[in-house]
Amino acid sequence: MAKAPKTFDEWYVKSSYQNFVRQEGVPLYEGSALEDLGSLTLTDWERRGGKAAYTRLGDQEYYNLQIVEIPPGGELKPERHMYDSVMYVMKGRGAATIWQEGEPRTTVEWEEGALLAIPLNAWHQEFNSSGSEPCRILFGTNMAHVINLYGNLDFVFNNPFVFSDRYTYSMQSFFSDKGQQWNLRLYETNFIPDIRKFSLDPYPERGNRTSIMRLAMSNTSIGMHIMSVSEGTYVTAHRHEARAHVIVVEGEGYELLFMPGEERQRRRVPTNPYAVVAPRHNEYHQHFNTGKGEYRMLAFRGSGLRQGGGRRYDPARTAQDKNPYDLSFKISYEKEDPAIREEYYKELEKNGISLRLKPLDQRG
Ligand SMILES: [Fe+2]
Repeated sequence: MAKAPKTFDEWYVKSSYQNFVRQEGVPLYEGSALEDLGSLTLTDWERRGGKAAYTRLGDQEYYNLQIVEIPPGGELKPERHMYDSVMYVMKGRGAATIWQEGEPRTTVEWEEGALLAIPLNAWHQEFNSSGSEPCRILFGTNMAHVINLYGNLDFVFNNPFVFSDRYTYSMQSFFSDKGQQWNLRLYETNFIPDIRKFSLDPYPERGNRTSIMRLAMSNTSIGMHIMSVSEGTYVTAHRHEARAHVIVVEGEGYELLFMPGEERQRRRVPTNPYAVVAPRHNEYHQHFNTGKGEYRMLAFRGSGLRQGGGRRYDPARTAQDKNPYDLSFKISYEKEDPAIREEYYKELEKNGISLRLKPLDQRG
């Protein structure tokens, strides 16, 4: 019989997710921002081949990233799992084969900018089609949550259940169909060849000349959106529960992060592709475009749009400077610390870009 623990240190164990990453023998990156996923150090990954690293960002274990490099001409070993996973291609080109147990395989070819959602517990295998360049991909997943929920890797990675309601080979053109826009700012599809060219809808509630498209993909439970901030502008600060991961995919800018009541101790993170920001619970965050052209981000956040997240950000229900206890609280341009805009204006001047917002003296 196991000896009963006598002290907290004896009793305490790390989470199942942290133990899993330790077992994988690759790095675990923590914090609320990483400046460049493209150059992040990865190490050899025995389980699937290639190199890998994991994240535990924003002091939460719901969503996490898995950053993977496949060597020139290389491939990863096939896997399936009971967590949802959406793949984004940061560099290179290749293919993924996806199949359900006992069914024919479907191949999806991808290159930089592609977003592909893997159906739950479907087999998948990724290949690098270049013989000279490595490719670097990231998976946005709820692996941390699922591993902590069940605590049993055999259940998570070796589970025979087939979710044929989510995907079967007979669902013709599942990955080649262009998808459908259901509503303003809401699009359902399973594969996007290049999210940097994906058409978005205006989103003035978040900021001047800002646009967005929320994505429902492959019946996964992961909520996602693509957001764009035009040249010479920035979006208003807001905060919410931890778990959102924002990955810069195009443009040049910075991010401000601060906890409520600590506006003067703002942290500033330079954010070129591929920076990621994953604010802690209630941590304010604010995106600034300082470059030429648009500043575009991919976000994993909230719950899936078919899992209760579909109407969540209805503008009429978005709190603004009203109830500081509301989790979707935001600070409008008029209420923010004037130093924020002054700092932004100086950055634009350095880059020879004009401010495309109303002057400060028109504040309410
Ligand atoms: Fe956010």
